[in-house]
Amino acid sequence: MPPRGLLPLCLLCLQAALPLPARYRGDKVIRVVPESERETRILKAAFNRLKVGSCTTGGPVAAQQHLPHHQRYGHRRASTTEHIPKSAALPPASKHPVHIQDWMHHLNNTHSDLVHMFSVGKSYEGRPLFVLKLGKRSRPYKKAVWIDCGIHAREWIGPAFCQWFVKEALQTHQTDPAMRKMLTQLYFYIMPVFNVDGYHFSWTNDRFWRKTRSKNTRFRCHGVDANRNWKVKWCDEGASFHPCDDTYCGPFPESEPEVKAVAHFLRKHRKQIKAYLSFHAYAQMLLYPYSYKYATIPNFSCVESAAYNAVNALESAYGIRYRYGPASSTLYVSSGSSMDWAYKNGIPYAFAFELRDTGHFGFLLPETLIKPTCTETMLAVKNITLHLLKKCH
Ligand SMILES: *[C@@H]1O[C@H](CO)[C@@H](O)[C@H](O)[C@H]1NC(C)=O
Ligand SMILES: *[C@@H]1O[C@H](CO)[C@@H](O)[C@H](O)[C@H]1NC(C)=O
Ligand SMILES: *[C@@H]1O[C@H](CO)[C@@H](O)[C@H](O)[C@H]1NC(C)=O
Ligand SMILES: [Zn+2]
Repeated sequence: MPPRGLLPLCLLCLQAALPLPARYRGDKVIRVVPESERETRILKAAFNRLKVGSCTTGGPVAAQQHLPHHQRYGHRRASTTEHIPKSAALPPASKHPVHIQDWMHHLNNTHSDLVHMFSVGKSYEGRPLFVLKLGKRSRPYKKAVWIDCGIHAREWIGPAFCQWFVKEALQTHQTDPAMRKMLTQLYFYIMPVFNVDGYHFSWTNDRFWRKTRSKNTRFRCHGVDANRNWKVKWCDEGASFHPCDDTYCGPFPESEPEVKAVAHFLRKHRKQIKAYLSFHAYAQMLLYPYSYKYATIPNFSCVESAAYNAVNALESAYGIRYRYGPASSTLYVSSGSSMDWAYKNGIPYAFAFELRDTGHFGFLLPETLIKPTCTETMLAVKNITLHLLKKCH
């Protein structure tokens, strides 16, 4: 269940009779922001009665009851409908999963001085889990930054950003002193598609697929929420025990091979890795721990000032203002997340980005917005990583 009477912001009406690829054709997205407990109850009841799917837990703006109302929503009470565009089924070829893999192999071959591609394991369906290690081999020991994209399959802007980051780094490190410094003094471990099976499935079968694709022994529903499967207050508030829910935590922590492989890698390199950055969409937020409880992290002031500077840097590009703060009070409470896990395992700067937008296009962010979104996000990421290289007390 969503935490604290949290709020079906978005109901997606599914016509289950249609074949899968056409599942959403002619469907509508209805966005509803309930304004009271009572409205929330009514919506939930309606929600159970109708055959609808919800994207509540998928990242749209949501918030806690204890905040003042205008802060909670950050936008007007909205009740809009929009048709899901047919083009949702025809995404740009540049982001196709197979294409991303070819692109990584290509970089590994053509930029072997700066890029090393390796696999940290295999997905449930047997796909390699590729990571790019990016940086100059200037000295034996360097601090490192971990970046992952696409934990949630349908959040396509994530993998696009990871690719953008690598492309920009390779194109600008000779001319941009900041980037040169980053690649000289740090290694970046970049995983463009964390949830490869789910991402694939979101291209072939279901554009709004979120979870992994693992099978369940007792239910016909597939998949686990790869951002509820980590061993940190696992399957508590903001996660579901039910295999058919979008926030299903899995049968046990690290049950998903993708989560297990990355957790293993991060554990092994936790002395070296100083920042963990995970890319999601959508909400326009920069979040730091904790996600699973309302409490202040020990190194609050360093993390908070990194976030403050990063959102200002981001805003300087196109005036897009991100909210920032602890995930629990800024977005919602969720347990078993990768960010909390990274922080608890000794990575002092752990952040989750919720990229554009705030719900107008939602997961279907059009191609024309990929470039501006990546450009501004790049400023935030550069700002955070340069902050790492300074002392903070
Ligand atoms: C990347 O290139 C190196 C050689 O530079 C090679 O050893 C390695 O296997 C390549 N990685 C992949 C995933 O093919
Ligand atoms: C980070 O962003 C802040 C706010 O925009 C800015 O003052 C600072 O110079 C930036 N730092 C770097 C290293 O880019
Ligand atoms: C907080 O910062 C100090 C000094 O930078 C560091 O030694 C410590 O590990 C950090 N603690 C956490 C929980 O990140
Ligand atoms: Zn997400």
